[in-house]
Amino acid sequence: MTTNSILLKTLRGEKTERPPVWFMRQAGRVLPSYMKIKENYTFWQMMQNPEVASKVTLLPIDDLGVDAGILFSDILVIPHALGMGLEFNDSGPVFDQPLAFRENPLIGLQPDPTKLNYIYSVIDQIVRTKKEDTPLIGFCGAPLTVLLFMLQGLGRKGDFPDAIKFIYQNKETTRQLIDVVTELSIVYAQGQIEHGVDVFQLFDTHAGLIPADLYQDLFMPSIRRIGDAVREKGIPFIFFPKGLGTGIAGLSPDDCDFLSIDWQTPLDTARKIVHPKIGLQGNVDPRLLYSSQPEIEKALQPYIEFGKNNQNWIFNLGHGFMPGISVENARFLADWVKRTDWKR
Ligand code: CP3
Repeated sequence: MTTNSILLKTLRGEKTERPPVWFMRQAGRVLPSYMKIKENYTFWQMMQNPEVASKVTLLPIDDLGVDAGILFSDILVIPHALGMGLEFNDSGPVFDQPLAFRENPLIGLQPDPTKLNYIYSVIDQIVRTKKEDTPLIGFCGAPLTVLLFMLQGLGRKGDFPDAIKFIYQNKETTRQLIDVVTELSIVYAQGQIEHGVDVFQLFDTHAGLIPADLYQDLFMPSIRRIGDAVREKGIPFIFFPKGLGTGIAGLSPDDCDFLSIDWQTPLDTARKIVHPKIGLQGNVDPRLLYSSQPEIEKALQPYIEFGKNNQNWIFNLGHGFMPGISVENARFLADWVKRTDWKR
């Protein structure tokens, strides 16, 4: 078990000289070392090969200087383990027979937890090869985002129109589908922890596609169940409900330990409206990294005051790295966090 790391200290509520730093989607996208490995494999092959996936997980620790690794995998391994046919092509993930177009979406979903075993082999390999004090972050997708992909079949139609329509027209079936996804996600989260992840993050990238009150009603009970299952196993639970807006004010410390804030929400505003016992993570606009380093540095100045006053904060982006961001700027951001005097 990793203990002596700046990330875990912050998550435990201990004081540190600077905020810990890691980035969502740090393992792919911006790293030339990743692109090079990717020339020889498909994404599925990379994920399923413990040597390759563990290596990719650890690349950003050396190449960017971040304080943690995040497991190289994907949120869509859950629908795959529920029996859905999934491929990753150049434009993103594609499912055969999306659920919104099936006669009965519940028939045919067959949870098979053994289909996740290859991921535990990846974790075992990471734990064997990583430096002892480097924490490993495990993750899965939250039921709304995962279901949107399962219902729509692909993520290319940005706002998942047929999936959202399905949810409004079929609340009862939706609740049952949420349960199916939640139950396998719990088994999966606990499996990751048993194999050695130190922190767990739940990604709800598309939380903002429905109103906050509907989100509370339909999805928060399952978020709480997944969070409880993680915390029962003794590790911290970070929740990223992107686009939930002022809905984040309704979260309680029973829901999560830390809340990852999107780039739409000013961090100071988030701190004012989120329960004081919930720590924050975030929330640099990833697109800022398309601009020049002097511009980036200027835009970061307000974070110094925030970091001085808030120990329970993890430096991160407000969503993942975008394709086409330069590795130099990504490294600059991690360096900046480390060389800044946080006046703590
Ligand atoms: O930091 C990391 O990169 C760790 C691994 C990771 C991946 N996906 C690898 C991946 C993580 C944490 C994810 C999460 C994920 N996957 C989310 C939530 C976070 C977010 O960014 O919003 C979502 C919505 C997905 C679904 C998904 N997977 C999409 C829409 C795509 C295609 C577009 C893209 O590149 O993101 C994927 C494929 C995927 N997942 C790739 C990688 C490295 C690209 C595969 C390739 O290189 O061909």
